[in-house]
Formats: sequence, C-alpha cells, structure tokens
Amino acid sequence: MRCQTPVHLQFSESGKFRILAIGDSHEKLEFNEKTEDMLRLLNASAEYLHPDMVVFMGDLVSRENLHENRPATEDEIFEQIVRLTKPFTSRNIPIGIVFGNHDGDPPVEDKKVVFALFNRIPKFINTDESGVTGVGNCFVPIYDHTGEKMLFNLWLLDSGSAAQDGSDGYAWVDDDQIGWYEHTCDAITAENGGVVPSIFFQHIPVCEEYELLRKTSILHPCRVRGMSMYSGSYYTRGDKLQGYLGEGPAVPARNNGQFASWKKKGDVIAAIFGHDHMNDFQGEVDGILLCQTQCSGFTMWGDGLKQGVRVIDLNEADPKSFDTYMVRYRDFFGTKCKSITPYNLLSDRWHINFKITLGVLGAAAVGAAVGTGVHKLKKFLKK
Ligand SMILES: [Fe+2]
Ligand SMILES: [Fe+2]
Repeated sequence: MRCQTPVHLQFSESGKFRILAIGDSHEKLEFNEKTEDMLRLLNASAEYLHPDMVVFMGDLVSRENLHENRPATEDEIFEQIVRLTKPFTSRNIPIGIVFGNHDGDPPVEDKKVVFALFNRIPKFINTDESGVTGVGNCFVPIYDHTGEKMLFNLWLLDSGSAAQDGSDGYAWVDDDQIGWYEHTCDAITAENGGVVPSIFFQHIPVCEEYELLRKTSILHPCRVRGMSMYSGSYYTRGDKLQGYLGEGPAVPARNNGQFASWKKKGDVIAAIFGHDHMNDFQGEVDGILLCQTQCSGFTMWGDGLKQGVRVIDLNEADPKSFDTYMVRYRDFFGTKCKSITPYNLLSDRWHINFKITLGVLGAAAVGAAVGTGVHKLKKFLKK
C-alpha cells in the first residue's frame, strides 16, 4: 500500500530518524512577548535538536481577531501558520499536524480551510483521508535508509472537539475512524509481509492514561483532579508513570475502544498526545507507551516554565526500540523569559497543592488546639 504522502521520509545513513512533537501552541494573531518566547523555543528546538520532521499536536492557531471582535480572515490565519512553522520551514524540515479541540470549535468546514492553508506550507506531510470523520487523518510511512522498504509508520488522527453526545467532556474517536485505522493497518501489514511498528499522534489522550495513575484523597499533596469519565475523584502518580503529572488527563467523555483496537492490531508501540498543557508524563499500558507533551505556547495556561517539545528517536536497526523525552524552554534558556512573571515561575501545581494541603492541615491543628484549650478552660472554671 503505497501512501500518497507528499514528502518521502527515510532513515538517515546512520540509521536514525528524529521526530519532534510540539504541544499546543495556541498561536494568536498579534505578535507579542508570548509569541516571541514560543518562537525562541521552536527555533532552538530546530537549531539544536536537528529533527527529521515535526508534528504539531493540535490547538494550533486562533481563528478570531479579538481586537476587532470578528472571525480572522484567511490571510490572518495564514500569517500565524507561517510564523508558527517558520523555524522548521526555514530549515527545510517536514511538518505534520493533528487538529485539536480548539481548532474545531466552529464546524468542520473551518478546519478544512485551515488544512488548505497548511497545504501551502513547504514540506507539509499530511494527506486527508476522504470519507473519514475529521480532517487531516493519514498515515506517514518512514522507509529504510535506501528509501525502498517501509520500516515504520506514523498515524496522524483528528481526535475531534467536544463530546458527540453533548455531555460535559471531550470527543471520542469515532467508529469510522477506528475502522479506517484497522483496515489500513491490515493493508500495510499485508503489503509489507508483517506488522509495521507505528506511533500514533493525536490531540486528545486515550482513557487508558488513568491506568498510569492511582486514586488518592483530596489531601494528598501531589494530587490531580480526575477529568471527564474520572471526574469526582483525585489521582496521583502510579508506579509506572515517569515524567511530570500536572493535571488530570483530559480524556474523552466515553471510551470508544480506540486503545483496544491498537492492541488488537498490534502495530502501535507508542501514542503521543497534546491537549493537557501541564502534563508530559509517559508510561506503558499493555505494551503501548502513552506520552503527553507539554504545551509549547505561552498564551494559554501552563505550569511555571515547563513549555517544551517531545523528542522521539527511532532506530532503523531495531524499529520497535525508540527513545523519547522532553526538552523544555528552560533547558535552552534557563529562566530568561519575557512573558512569564516571577510569580508564574513559582506557580508549579505541586507547590500550590502542597500549600493548600499544609493550610488545611494547619487549620485543623489550630482548630484542635483551640478546642483542647477551651475544653481545659471549661474544666478549670468548673473546679
Ligand atoms: Fe485541547
Ligand atoms: Fe490546548
């Protein structure tokens, strides 16, 4: 099954292939200090990490002109796309995208407009599988260093916006998208004489991320509040979780069986997500590494100064073995940042939770001490 990807990707002579996943950028129309800080991060990532391709993980650009309170024009949206991708287009690096929930707030036709604008970017790698829910769904083969044999595969999927049933929560990947993945995977397997290892890229994480957490009490200093199907409970890191957990994973409102489908087909060795601006943990569930990517942008909420990019290093000699880790803004620039105030640098979620917990325990201790004092005073007065 020869893919129609416009850019032919292959391992280098030394058998390496490096992907950068770039979390939520939430680029805005106006250029300001926040834009400048994000572009410093992206430029440094391109310059020093030398990726063979990048994938923007959704929640990409704004489609509103907030100054004039009207929808952005196509020219204005394209201006943001050019600015966002320039660190990579200027270095001739191929670019892929997956759409996020904020890219689809108004109807899907808008995403098609944005997709068409991305198509004007040099070395844009997405195709758009027709007849499948969402925009920009595709698979991207990576060939061996001779360019002949498909050794690895990347799935880029539009994971939607709000829950399809109108309930409070995020969309789930639709049945037809799962069906497309399964029959395309079968075709790739048949053509290549066996399962081709792959990594899945999509904005909204799968529900199985909660298997990396464990339930805890509201008083735990390192707790996060469950989201969607898991709201009403608090969680903390489980034994298998590595990296940073800054918030409850914002998973779909329903588990529609996407993860089970990956397990059934057996090709997916890892899945990379955006959406959670403050998470960059990773952990293995049933043999599949689930990885969050912190936001790269500075315009939306973040966590201190943890904006960064996720590096994924593939290896031709053993395509099932790969390495992945985060490189943060502060790894390049320390605390030199124009748009983040000293207060925000101290606003790490754990610190906040820790202070709240200390406050609650302190208030309880003071209450108990006062109660004991009053009781003793009453006894003394009775004598
Ligand atoms: Fe999102
Ligand atoms: Fe976002």
